[in-house]
Amino acid sequence: MWICRSLPFLKFRTQVPKMNELTQGFNGLRVVSFESRRSQQMADLISRNGGRAISAPSMREIPLEENREALAFGDKLLRGDIDILILLTGVGTQILLDVLSSRYPRQTIIDALSKTILVARDAKSAEALKRLNLEPSFPVQEPNTWREVLSVLDQKAPVNGKTVAVQEYGISQKDLINDLSQRDARVVRVPVYRWGLPEDLEPLRQALQTIVKGEADVVLFTNRNQINNVIRLAQEEGIEKEFKQALSSMVVASVGPVSTEFLDEYGVPVDIEPELPKMEPLVQEGSAKSGGILEKKRGHAAARSLPESSSGAARLQFPKEEKHSPAQMNETLRNSIFMKACRREPTVRTPIWLMRQAGRYMKEYRDIRDRHGFLELCKDSDLAAEVTVYAVDRLGVDAAIIFSDILLILEPLGLELEYAKGDGPIIHNPVRSWNDFKKLKTTVIPHDSLSFVFDAIRKTRQSLPADIPLIGFAGAPFTLASYLIEGQGSRNYIHTKSLMYHEPDTWHAIMATLSNALIAYLNSQIEAGAQAVQLFDSWVGCLSPEDYKKFVLPHVKWIIKHIREGVPVIHFGTQTGALLELMQQAGGDVIGVDWRVELDEAWRRLGPEVGIMGNLDPVSLFADPEEIYARAKRILEQAAGRPGHIFNLGHGVLPNTPVGHVKALVDAVKELSAR
Ligand code: CP3
Repeated sequence: MWICRSLPFLKFRTQVPKMNELTQGFNGLRVVSFESRRSQQMADLISRNGGRAISAPSMREIPLEENREALAFGDKLLRGDIDILILLTGVGTQILLDVLSSRYPRQTIIDALSKTILVARDAKSAEALKRLNLEPSFPVQEPNTWREVLSVLDQKAPVNGKTVAVQEYGISQKDLINDLSQRDARVVRVPVYRWGLPEDLEPLRQALQTIVKGEADVVLFTNRNQINNVIRLAQEEGIEKEFKQALSSMVVASVGPVSTEFLDEYGVPVDIEPELPKMEPLVQEGSAKSGGILEKKRGHAAARSLPESSSGAARLQFPKEEKHSPAQMNETLRNSIFMKACRREPTVRTPIWLMRQAGRYMKEYRDIRDRHGFLELCKDSDLAAEVTVYAVDRLGVDAAIIFSDILLILEPLGLELEYAKGDGPIIHNPVRSWNDFKKLKTTVIPHDSLSFVFDAIRKTRQSLPADIPLIGFAGAPFTLASYLIEGQGSRNYIHTKSLMYHEPDTWHAIMATLSNALIAYLNSQIEAGAQAVQLFDSWVGCLSPEDYKKFVLPHVKWIIKHIREGVPVIHFGTQTGALLELMQQAGGDVIGVDWRVELDEAWRRLGPEVGIMGNLDPVSLFADPEEIYARAKRILEQAAGRPGHIFNLGHGVLPNTPVGHVKALVDAVKELSAR
């Protein structure tokens, strides 16, 4: 025991989140925050709660002397050119007076103001005047809106032909200004700012566009002036209406009553306001409640009210709400023996396909690889389609798997991927800490960055025989995370597990980011023409059941839950004898197993409610065809003709496997399983 205690990775630095905390987290939702000074802190909080932060600083404190409009107004006022001054807010009035005091002596300002008709809309603006020993010229009646301001002016000081200055704080009072102009007043607008827009407006502009396009899920407001600025920019960009409408299908969270009231007045109802008006409770409550609120909002009218321009990503987040038929699958494909087996319907014989059926064991593949790098091959959709279809043709298997690789999704996340000759894949900038994680791009839109995969799927679908389904695939988040963290393949996963144990928050943030990208990626493959999808959790067997439950299961469950309904999911792993029930809990219509577990025993443990794929040892293919035949027979006997068995290897075909032996296996399964 004393040895264990001395092992450094057993010391937990941060508390591991409890299961219920995790499943209630943002779970990869896209969360917009307008925090400025504390934008980094906010982004960290969001990520730690499982969200993808979109930070758009919205405020900058403006020095008084930069209030140019207010200073220009001061010049006019002192020249005696202003007849009437309308003060709309207390804060604005105070800032206006401060600005003027930065340039003119106090008494000069007081003298000039006392020669002007002063209208204070509310008590607070009147109070600001009082601090200069000035009184409003007449009171404005309740409820103190701009209408009461106009009506008192009409009675006491008609504005026609007069120069009327309107102090604006934040949002412009367009209606008041219009009505004044209609009465033939010369209107001087006096915007005053304490909080201006940030110097670099690009992040804020982009965040507004993201919202308008429906590509965000949760929007956090943490300050009234910030809301002011956001609305101001939306107005200036001419997208105010679209902005308001888009918010109606997102979760709107406000830090406290002042912001909530302001948003309410503006016509944006608030979904979440924490009891304590602080950032942490806001994010925590947001992460706990957003999932449920969104399902309600988007499940009903809101799903339909998303603007036309709403991107694939937003739709793909909630594919189950859509009523489309899965990838317009036709009857021939639906009735293929592979698809029937995925649905556990009886078939005339057992379907067979092989992981890595297109690969280096084939001479034709090696010939193509002599001329093209592996990544180049994956990214050339014509070649990828050719390689995919060729393998089906050559072997006579019952399904195609798109030629691609599980690691390609890492490139758009910002990872430098290389397939070095003989060394397997390498990632040159592995993620080993929270700081590394923060450098990842979290706004992956696989539609754009992985379009070659979808092109290859479209082309393959067109070239395949009508009864051969095409399988799309992705790496499961654990297996992907292991490459992303180790930087290469691994034997003991020391970096991966250390990060899991030492920095569970970072771990979950990585898994949430991957999961979110994977949902969009897999659903896009389906949209492009894949009839089924497989999640490769090839290396998850290195985990204990306890760690799987804590660190992996909720993420995989979330992914599978969001794969478009009606599309079968094959959930595959190797060395998963100890994890089968947990993998099943995570989901999948078919569970893929390797040869280290007996197929009949695995299926008995999983029960009749799920299909099974497997499970010949790929090294068996180096044996004589008679031995291959005998081993295939044994597996088929274990499956005992039960609907729902898909014959496969327990892992991919290995390089140097004799092609004739692979073909012999396919033929043997076809012959032996004919019913
Ligand atoms: O199954 C298929 O025919 C579809 C294509 C496919 C490839 N990789 C092509 C590939 C699939 C489904 C994968 C999945 C994949 N890729 C996994 C999951 C489990 C597995 O091992 O099958 C993993 C862990 C990877 C990552 C990866 N890609 C590794 C470790 C390697 C190098 C080792 C190796 O087997 O070559 C690759 C390269 C790779 N992916 C090749 C192929 C055909 C070989 C590249 C070459 O031509 O040199």
